[in-house]
Amino acid sequence: MPSTVRTLKLPSGEGVPLLGQGTWKMGEDRRRRADEVSALKLGLDLGITLIDTAEMYASGGAEEVVAEAIAGRRDETFLVSKVLPSNASRAGVERACEASLKRLSTDRIDLYLLHWPGSVPLSETVEAFESLKAQGKIRYWGVSNFDTDEMEDLVGLPSGGNVQTNQVLYNLSRRGPEFDLAPWCAERGIPLMAYSPVEQGALARNARLEAVAARHNATAAQIALAWAMAQPGVIAIPKAVRQEHVRQNAAALDIKLAPEDFADLDRAFPPPTRKRGLEMI
Ligand SMILES: NC(=O)c1ccc[n+]([C@@H]2O[C@H](COP(=O)([O-])OP(=O)(O)OC[C@H]3O[C@@H](n4cnc5c(N)ncnc54)[C@H](OP(=O)(O)O)[C@@H]3O)[C@@H](O)[C@H]2O)c1
Repeated sequence: MPSTVRTLKLPSGEGVPLLGQGTWKMGEDRRRRADEVSALKLGLDLGITLIDTAEMYASGGAEEVVAEAIAGRRDETFLVSKVLPSNASRAGVERACEASLKRLSTDRIDLYLLHWPGSVPLSETVEAFESLKAQGKIRYWGVSNFDTDEMEDLVGLPSGGNVQTNQVLYNLSRRGPEFDLAPWCAERGIPLMAYSPVEQGALARNARLEAVAARHNATAAQIALAWAMAQPGVIAIPKAVRQEHVRQNAAALDIKLAPEDFADLDRAFPPPTRKRGLEMI
């Protein structure tokens, strides 16, 4: 078990773990369900109490897996879910949230995100989020896959400044957000939630990462996670079903990268030198 699970403050002032558990691809196959539930429970035991899910994942199936994993442990869990842009109207958000709450077997979602920007005016979605907050159905709201200009538009709206996070594709092989999005968020104290932090497993097999990992008696995936969590204002949310992966990911919280590690990683995965549009998986 990691000695302490480091936390980061949301703009609201509430602390959340720097490491969370992703759930994309969970709930798709009943034969894997027991393993998925066990993995999430093990993560909770190890202090990885932030769980990220979405109505989109397995068309609600992932939320049902989460419900099973957190049964009896709701109060120790920080639950993140997402509404699809096609449900982002005032009435649509209300309906989608009710359905998510039902699948999650809970009375509240801690952080509810707009999954990516869509065609419903953002002001309408923000109003719907604020109304859900007032009803106690969500505690906070945020966005996902928003680039800097979209964040600018958002904070210009009434109540837009209540955004608590922006969840984006960010890892060593996807450093684009460092150019302006990450500094923009950091200046305003808005955490970036890094999704696909091991690039869906690809970074776990990376030889340049293995070289750094050897110095820490660690794995390449752990170095990818330690690097992401070392970035200011960044929360990493790897998904892992294999128990050994969950244990490794929790242990990555204890890895302290040295200046020579950061230098080697910068050579292998150079930071961006110009603006690139935000990538999505
Ligand atoms: N907002 C969005 O648009 C968006 C988009 C994508 C993802 N997400 C969220 O972010 C989460 C994470 O992203 P992701 O699932 O795309 O990719 P990821 O976390 O980068 O990679 C998951 C893959 O890496 C493997 N893995 C995990 N830990 C490992 C370790 N220590 N060593 C070796 N392999 C390891 C997993 O294997 P096993 O499962 O077999 O253990 C799985 O195959 C998602 O689950 C989802 O919650 C959000």
